[in-house]
Amino acid sequence: MPMGKENVRILISQEDLERRVAEMAEEINRDFAGRSADDDSLVCIGVLKGSAFFLVDLLKKLTFPVKVDFFQTASYGSGTVAGEVRIRKDVDLPIRGKDVLLIEDIVDTGHTIRTVLGLLRFRGAKSVRLCALLDKVERREVDVPIDYCGFPIEDLFVVGYGLDYDERYRNLPYIGVLEMD
Ligand code: IMP
Ligand code: MG
Repeated sequence: MPMGKENVRILISQEDLERRVAEMAEEINRDFAGRSADDDSLVCIGVLKGSAFFLVDLLKKLTFPVKVDFFQTASYGSGTVAGEVRIRKDVDLPIRGKDVLLIEDIVDTGHTIRTVLGLLRFRGAKSVRLCALLDKVERREVDVPIDYCGFPIEDLFVVGYGLDYDERYRNLPYIGVLEMD
């Protein structure tokens, strides 16, 4: 679909995303089954902005109570220390003693998630599980354990379903690969 100078080739269709997100929610529901309705110690934390679309679709399918919060991160640009991640927006909710489900759109080098995981542990989270829609395995520079992974993908630059190229394409209902011409 032409949406600018570039073409977007569909990599993961809307139907495949919906099916996989439903499967992931089922898996999470199974793992967290047995939590009582008044147990509000689970905090779901999304990393803005990319994970917002995935987080909303996933959380609507969870069958136990959760709280929702967000981090926003930024990587330093070229010319600075590689892998240094800045926290632009911190979470508002207290983390000490909480079970955290961290929700990310894509794990690429791993630096963003490693920084966020470190911060959550430092704050005294009781447990942290990572749920990532996409995993660019080949690009990994630091090891991060993904508990729930939607799709492993090749080393391609992808957009849509929250992911952007220069703030564009986030609202595509599928994941696509940008093809410049
Ligand atoms: P990291 O390299 O694992 O720290 O990933 C940092 C961030 O880069 C991710 O959270 C995404 O926001 C962004 N990113 C990585 N790969 C892509 C991509 O293919 N398309 C769009 N954003 C990406
Ligand atoms: Mg992101």
